[in-house]
This record gives sequence, structure tokens and C-alpha cells, in this order.
Amino acid sequence: MSTPTGPVADGTPSADGSAAALAWWRTAAVYQVVPRSFADGDGDGVGDLPGLRSRLQHLADLGVDAVWVNPWYPSPGVDNGYDVTDYRDVDAALGGLAQAEEFLREAHALGLKVLLDIVPNHTSHTHAWFRAALAGDERARARYLFRPGRGEDGSLPPNDWESCFGGPSWTRTTGADGRPGEWYLHSFAPEQPDLDWRNPEVRAEFVDVLRFWFDRGVDGFRVDVAHGLLKQEGLPDALGRDRRTEEHPGWDQDEVHEVYREWRAVADAYDPPRVFVAEAWVARRERLPLYLRPDELHMAFEFDPLHVAWREGPWRRVIERGLAVAQLTGAPSAWALTNHDVVRQVTRYARSQPPEHGSNVSERARWGSEVPDLALGRARARAAALLTTALPGLVYVYAGEELGLEEVEDIPADLRTDPIHTRSGGRDPGRDGSRVPLPWSGQRPPFGFSPPGAPAPRLPQPPHWAALTAAAQARDEGSTLSLYRRALRLRRELLTGPEPLRWCEAPEGVLAFRRGRVLVQVNFGPRAVALPSGARLLVRSGPAPEGVLPVDTAAWLDVGAP
Ligand code: NOJ
Repeated sequence: MSTPTGPVADGTPSADGSAAALAWWRTAAVYQVVPRSFADGDGDGVGDLPGLRSRLQHLADLGVDAVWVNPWYPSPGVDNGYDVTDYRDVDAALGGLAQAEEFLREAHALGLKVLLDIVPNHTSHTHAWFRAALAGDERARARYLFRPGRGEDGSLPPNDWESCFGGPSWTRTTGADGRPGEWYLHSFAPEQPDLDWRNPEVRAEFVDVLRFWFDRGVDGFRVDVAHGLLKQEGLPDALGRDRRTEEHPGWDQDEVHEVYREWRAVADAYDPPRVFVAEAWVARRERLPLYLRPDELHMAFEFDPLHVAWREGPWRRVIERGLAVAQLTGAPSAWALTNHDVVRQVTRYARSQPPEHGSNVSERARWGSEVPDLALGRARARAAALLTTALPGLVYVYAGEELGLEEVEDIPADLRTDPIHTRSGGRDPGRDGSRVPLPWSGQRPPFGFSPPGAPAPRLPQPPHWAALTAAAQARDEGSTLSLYRRALRLRRELLTGPEPLRWCEAPEGVLAFRRGRVLVQVNFGPRAVALPSGARLLVRSGPAPEGVLPVDTAAWLDVGAP
């Protein structure tokens, strides 16, 4: 077999390394939107598609290449839309399908690709299939995982699995005669019954759903719980194994790959081919590349940056691990500093740092125990932005991180609706604090999120966000928004080619690497250091005298052609 020297069809970097060979999705900056939290166009206090459409210019000005929209399907909203009633429609509260089609047209006109979320592991309990299943329709029941209970009267769950949101993974149903019946599996909330992916009807349905959206011009999907669709045959007990860190019979089964091979063929049949990004949590990291085989998913999120401590060594290891997967598979790394499931990075970095890695649980557990130093957190978050936007692969930007928003930690308990909060009996505050409506303009809440006269948003915005509105930051050269704009513009110019990352020598505590003509330095260390002389400063994450890289600051320097 000869070595290819020209671009190959899917944009795999060619041996001659020509930048033109890279498909858009290999180097994109992707902006993630929670539609209900982004912008309210119709004035009901809830974000929607007219609101998103009205703010598309913000994304174009920011310099991203694509927008990823969290689930917009009709949904009772038990889990922020990850409980889908109908996969071929858009929630009326968001504007319905007609608004979605307008949004797609306008985004494309601005040169933005659009990724949606597909939620294949579970439906909502309000989905027509599940309603029919509960009503006793055997064919519909076979699309879910109903099982008799254990114990003499079936009053014990069929196995010992725990839901990711706390409590058992099983809920018992009531039969038509009013007597307790079988149980159904839900890896998340009871309102999110898991589908049985061994059922060919389920597989056929999702292929059809993919085509429905691809036919409407959607450029790709983020695959929710990509590792969870297939469960081990027989649903054996997990025997106390932790889903996140140990092999679990509910996660990461070999048969799941057949699903993605089928999906990839569907995506490849479109012109241009459509793409998938996996949310794949695997306990054994060596299994991640399986999802990224050339006939499966195009990329998978690197989740380590969501929790890694603000320290040089752990960050370097995270980057090396990500690049090793990219090297092995040919799939680009998909970097993100935050998303709708984790504590925003400003707040994560505002408290003392764990030795190597935190976790959702440990970060939320620290709330209240230590006053956050938000100025420190923000400085580090800005430096982290220059770090991740310079890495090879894609960078995902979660709405609001470009404004330097922190996690809102003082939301009253009765306004929190995240099932993680409710199912933990309030012990875990849950994820609402990362989904507070964005501040766009003005001096007072809702900061332009809704038009005048609208009811207040469900999740209150902190009054000090007056200083963080997009309008205020657009006027300020030193703002986080201006930093993101500058970084994304420079990234597009200088860092979206195939230039590999090469580590460089640097003073203690400073992480340094080079890509092409750009030298990146991040100072995690205890003291300010001198920047290399003779190099032109392209951008720095914080103010400093010329030639200096202060603590908790990053810089990009032009050091000339390699
Ligand atoms: C992962 C999503 O990111 C999260 O928000 C959701 O709660 C679960 N999957 C269940 O769909």
C-alpha cells in the first residue's frame, strides 16, 4: 500500500501536512449553547430560538466556526432537555421547527456550522413509545428495559445498579390492574427510561432521526452518553463497581460500536459528510480509541481538562494523554474547559487546587467551605483559555466562558431543578449554577437576556454581572471577551494547520510549547518570569510590564518560522 500524499476524503491530515487538507471539524472552535439560558426572544423569561437567532452575530464576532445546540426537542425539561418527547420536532417554547429551520439558514449564512445533541440512551417518560409501553403495548415495552423484580413478590429491583443521578437505576411500574408490576431501567432520572439497543426498531428509529436532521442541513451531532447505549446481556449486578472509574455492565459494551459503524455510514453518505462528537466516559482510557476508529465517531471530548488541577504537571499529562489518542486514531482532540455539567472554570480555579484531579462531586462538595477568590479564578481561566485554544484539534467554548462568568453558587434551593440536586436530597447543589442566563447588556438583571417587561428568568443572575455583560466587555480592550476574540482570530490565522505540538524548555512552573511559529507559555509557577527576548508578543491573558509573564498568566509569542 502506498502512503497517501494528498488530502484524503475525510480530511485526515495528509503526509505532506498541507493545511488545505484539514476538514473543518478537525480544527474548529465550537460554541456550546444551552438554548433556555442563552437569550429570550419572545419575552417569557426563557431562552429560545428567536433569542439565539438575534445573538448569532455575537458568535460570528467571537470568531467561532460552529455552534453546538443542547437538546431543543419537545421535552418536559426534567433534565435540561436531555429527556426527549419527540426527536423530530423542536419544543414549542423554543419556537418550534420553523424557528429551527430559520436558525439553521441564518447560522449557515454567517458561515457557522451547526451541531445538535442526539440523546439515544434514553427517551423522556412522555415519549409516545414509553407511554404505549406503560399502557401495556408489548411491542413498545420491548424497546425499553422492563424486567421483573427480585424477591418473592418482585419488590426488589432487578439488579443493583445505581443511577448517575443518585438512587437506584430502576423504577417499578403499576400494572393495568393497579398492582405493582415490572421495573424499568433508567441510568439517569426515572423520567429518562433507557432504550433497549438490542431491539432493531430502536436502531432503525435513530438512523431515521439522524437523516431527518441531516436532510435539514444539520452538520453533525454530539452523541449523549455515547458509551452507554448497550448494556451487558443479562444485566448482571455491578457489585458496587463505580461507573466512572471501574468497568460496569451498564457502560462501554463492545456491541455499541456496531451502532456507530451504522451511523458513520449514514453521515458519510451526505455531501459534505456529517460529523459526530462523542460524549464517551470510559473507565479504561485505552478503550476510548475504539470509538474513534475510522468507520465510527469523528472525535470524542477530552474530559480531563474539566477537572484537572491548576498546576503545570497535571496539565502537561492531560495534554500528552489527549495527543496520544489523536496520534493513535487520527481523530482530532476535542478540548473543553467547561460545559453545562460541571462547575465553571472561574470558580474551579478560585479555590485551593486538588493535587492532580478534582471531580464534579469534589468540586461541588467544596462549596461553602472556602470563599472563592474570583479575581484569581478569572485570571487563571483566562490563561487556561490561551492554553486550550492553542492546542491541536478542536476547542469547545461554553456560552458565558468568553465573558468570564463564574458558577452561581447562591441560587436558592427552591429554584434549583437539576435532578442531581433533587435526587441527592439537596446535598449536591447540582448543575443549575452553570446554566444561569447570560448577561448581554445594561445595568440590572436580566441584563438584556429578555426584552423589557418579561418575567424574571428562573435562575437569578448576580447583580455584579453588570460589569460582565457582552456589551460592556465589547467596549473594553482588556476584557475577557476581547481576549477570546483576539485569541480565536489568531488561532484561525496561525494555529489551525497541522503544526504538531512540541514541548519547550521553560523556567520552573511554566508550561511551554510551540506550534508552528507560535510559542505558548503558561505560568503556573510561584513567581513572574521573563518572556523570551526577541519574540513578538501576540497576546497575553493579563496585564503586565513588557517582557514579563506574571503568575497565573499565559502568552503567545511569534518566534518565527520553525
Ligand atoms: C450527559 C449530558 O451532558 C447531561 O447534561 C445529561 O444530564 C446526561 N447526559 C443525561 O442525558
